[in-house]
Amino acid sequence: MAAGWRQKWPCGYRFVVLSVMLGCVGSLEPITTGIAIATASALTGYLSSPRFYCRFVECCEEEQPLNVSALEADLSQKLFGQHLVQKVILKALNGFMRNPNPKKPLTLSLHGWTGTGKNFVSKIIAENLYPTGTKSKFVHLFVSTLHFPHDSQIPLYKDQLQSWIRGNVSLCERSLFIFDEMDKLHAGLVDAIKPYLDYYDHIDGVSYRKAIFIFLSNAGGDLITRKVLDYWNEGKSREDLQLKDLEAVLSVGLFNNRNSGFWHSGLIEKNLIDFYVPFLPLEFRHVKMCVLAELKDRGFEPDEGIAGDVAKEMTYYPKEEKLFSDKGCKTVPYKLDLFL
Ligand SMILES: *[C@@H]1O[C@H](CO)[C@@H](O)[C@H](O)[C@H]1NC(C)=O
Ligand SMILES: *[C@@H]1O[C@H](CO)[C@@H](O)[C@H](O)[C@H]1NC(C)=O
Repeated sequence: MAAGWRQKWPCGYRFVVLSVMLGCVGSLEPITTGIAIATASALTGYLSSPRFYCRFVECCEEEQPLNVSALEADLSQKLFGQHLVQKVILKALNGFMRNPNPKKPLTLSLHGWTGTGKNFVSKIIAENLYPTGTKSKFVHLFVSTLHFPHDSQIPLYKDQLQSWIRGNVSLCERSLFIFDEMDKLHAGLVDAIKPYLDYYDHIDGVSYRKAIFIFLSNAGGDLITRKVLDYWNEGKSREDLQLKDLEAVLSVGLFNNRNSGFWHSGLIEKNLIDFYVPFLPLEFRHVKMCVLAELKDRGFEPDEGIAGDVAKEMTYYPKEEKLFSDKGCKTVPYKLDLFL
């Protein structure tokens, strides 16, 4: 953390603070002055210490340990119907943050239909890594349709993306980059950052090994749904689904899908994605849980009746089984307004 705060810390500051303080006590008698000077120096030491400074200005905390029980509580209490996500995210972050010397940055690829909780989980991760969460200056969000909309500008975007990542990781090794709407990202753009995700000590003097990259995408949602539906048809519980049932399906599916953002991507080919995180489609009972959580958030008593009514407002697919909410929990807050 030293390098992070030192760079932004004006060198003359300690001196200025000390002079101002001495100026104020200069007119006192000698003994008092002596005590005042001692007090002033002690205070100045504290005032110019990172501990004081970092209370007001966000500092890059590279050695900040992860509070695993806090992360676990967030994942189990605020996220519904995602037993695989809970397990993988906890394992991935805990392992990575405990390792003082990771060999490469952590890369997570989150997959599933809208409303299943991908953005929500990246927010939880950000909040558990930085006190200010997604507002932290070390958290960077890239949205494909917003930041990289034009196919004709791909070479420019590649340069920009590389320089942003290099620039930000130079300022703080423990930086978090979130790529939303990966399925709308031009095929090939993601390979521009491949060198940063690879097993290098450093590139041009910058080490990327403590950074975290999260990719969010709807791609693979169909594959996941099919798997959950198969389970349901076989009379098995979705909670019995294992990560290995889905991991291989996802990586192959994404690589071969032109609209996944990972089409023929070197990231997959070179195994640079550490974890594929499958978000399962949400059922009626999960939507109800989302409503109850939203009620609690707004300070209302839990109300099963309202929760059921809101959940009934959602539309469910596939046509015959009508099992999964097609917007997950996404529109729950708006639908809830209709019932309050
Ligand atoms: C970790 O989080 C738990 C639950 O939020 C909290 O009770 C505990 O004090 C935290 N521990 C540390 C070391 O911050
Ligand atoms: C850090 O990333 C942001 C985009 O999130 C970019 O605008 C900024 O220029 C980058 N900073 C540096 C120093 O490269």
